[in-house]
Amino acid sequence: AASNQPYRTGFHFQPPKNWMNDPNGPMYYKGVYHLFYQYNPYSAIWGNITWAHSISYDLVDWIHLEHAISPTEPYEANGCWSGSATVLVDGKPSILYTGANSKNQQFQNLAVPKNPSDPLLKEWIKSPHNPLISPVDDIDPLNFRDPTTAWLGPDRLWRIIVGGEIGGQGVAILYRSEDFVNWTRGKTPLHTSNKTGMWECPDFYPVSINGSNGLDTSVLAGLIKHVLKASFNNNDHYVLGRYTPEMDTFSVETNFLSNGSDMRYDYGKFYASKSFYDSDKKRRILWGWILESDSEADDISKGWSGLQSIPRSILLDESGKQLLLWPIKEIEKLRTKQVSFDDMDLKSGSVFEVPGIMAAQADIEVSFRLSGLKEAEEMNTSWVDPELLCKEKKASMNGTIGPFGLLVLASKDLEEQTAVYFRVFRKQYEKYVVLMCSDQSRSSLKEGLEKTTYGAFVDIDPVHETISLRSLIDHSIVESFGGNGKACITARVYPKLAINQDAHLYAFNNGTMDVRISKLSGWSMKRAQIVPIQKRRKPS
Ligand code: FRU
Repeated sequence: AASNQPYRTGFHFQPPKNWMNDPNGPMYYKGVYHLFYQYNPYSAIWGNITWAHSISYDLVDWIHLEHAISPTEPYEANGCWSGSATVLVDGKPSILYTGANSKNQQFQNLAVPKNPSDPLLKEWIKSPHNPLISPVDDIDPLNFRDPTTAWLGPDRLWRIIVGGEIGGQGVAILYRSEDFVNWTRGKTPLHTSNKTGMWECPDFYPVSINGSNGLDTSVLAGLIKHVLKASFNNNDHYVLGRYTPEMDTFSVETNFLSNGSDMRYDYGKFYASKSFYDSDKKRRILWGWILESDSEADDISKGWSGLQSIPRSILLDESGKQLLLWPIKEIEKLRTKQVSFDDMDLKSGSVFEVPGIMAAQADIEVSFRLSGLKEAEEMNTSWVDPELLCKEKKASMNGTIGPFGLLVLASKDLEEQTAVYFRVFRKQYEKYVVLMCSDQSRSSLKEGLEKTTYGAFVDIDPVHETISLRSLIDHSIVESFGGNGKACITARVYPKLAINQDAHLYAFNNGTMDVRISKLSGWSMKRAQIVPIQKRRKPS
């Protein structure tokens, strides 16, 4: 990374410059992975939203193509907003997206490839029937957007949901179509919640119970559950339930924002995500937009804003009660220069530097084994909000079992540090609560940054399992995965000192009890090749 751009990433997807937000229309088609995204061709702040387009053969290296969909029509004068791709029964892909007109009223539109036999799908044609779906009746025209990938019902009709807000409630509005052009609204929405406002970027898909493969969006039978995701309050929330296609009903196991079961893809920065089915590797993959935590003025001077997460595979946890998210396997091919330790004590009060890797661009996996759990501090039943708990129980504060974990993107003197750590509390006899935190409060000497601390409960039993943590560290982003993907926390940080070669990585334990690192492996990460088509180097 150039010294004047210490926050650009080495292996995360980002365009060469300007503003990027939501991932759009991800798909696998004829051997090629496609990613479209919300993009401003003219500046580092939101506006003039266009569908930019990049392709990849491995989800690691990317080639930027020409923009796929740009605002040219009155129904999208204010931008071509988010949407999804569906591969139709004849094998041809289609994109449904939202157009916002000059008054920001929102319409759902169709685009199809000019030449579907070209695996790169370079050119897209808008349907002459656009807009296909207009905001009529009780639909609020200003809150009606982000159509999902379609799924095919037993009656051979396609279904989609569109995000909305009706009567102050978040809603997944259902539509059906025979031909992908004429859409009829269902009598009742697929789901709604009076606890939330507008649902942006809904996603709806099946997951297999006890299976290790992902499922195509139209799989409706077998041992499955369905996931409904909605984006609101700056986070991507999901619920699990049973979908009955004959009636298009979805009966949920929990509600959005219900106390004690507010399930999120990620408890840090991660928004407007979208999943797709990878028919080649039989997995479902999730992309999410990672916003900046710096100011708009910072973005203008950097010349860019926004990252995409490392793609994550989605599976249902064996408990059946939550999802597991894990970075796609392919990212491991960037690993180089490994350090590794086995069975090492992390004594109370100690800080240990992980040597020998490039700490600004790294992948690190560590697992902790605990003893003396009976000494754990008692859990208070009023502690229902993990983020609040992490804010109160800072990394620097002593506990009994923890805080222990990693200090990433840290300066040599630890003046700057982002702490990713755990604390363990005792709930009842032999029952424990594991709290995972990411504390950004000391991440940079620079002022004017958002430095919120994030937190999540991790559903693991520290008596019988080790507590594992993986962090993908990439200059200004840290994606952390607790309990093998049971809880994810992504943070954006902008250190002044801990940049490039001056970044360090430590393991620490501020608890009064010793903990044992049963295994620690760290790798420097090579750069991914993410380049405009003309600049692509020949594969070596
Ligand atoms: C989510 C979102 C979507 C909308 C798009 C506009 O970040 O607000 O609801 O379609 O961004 O860029």
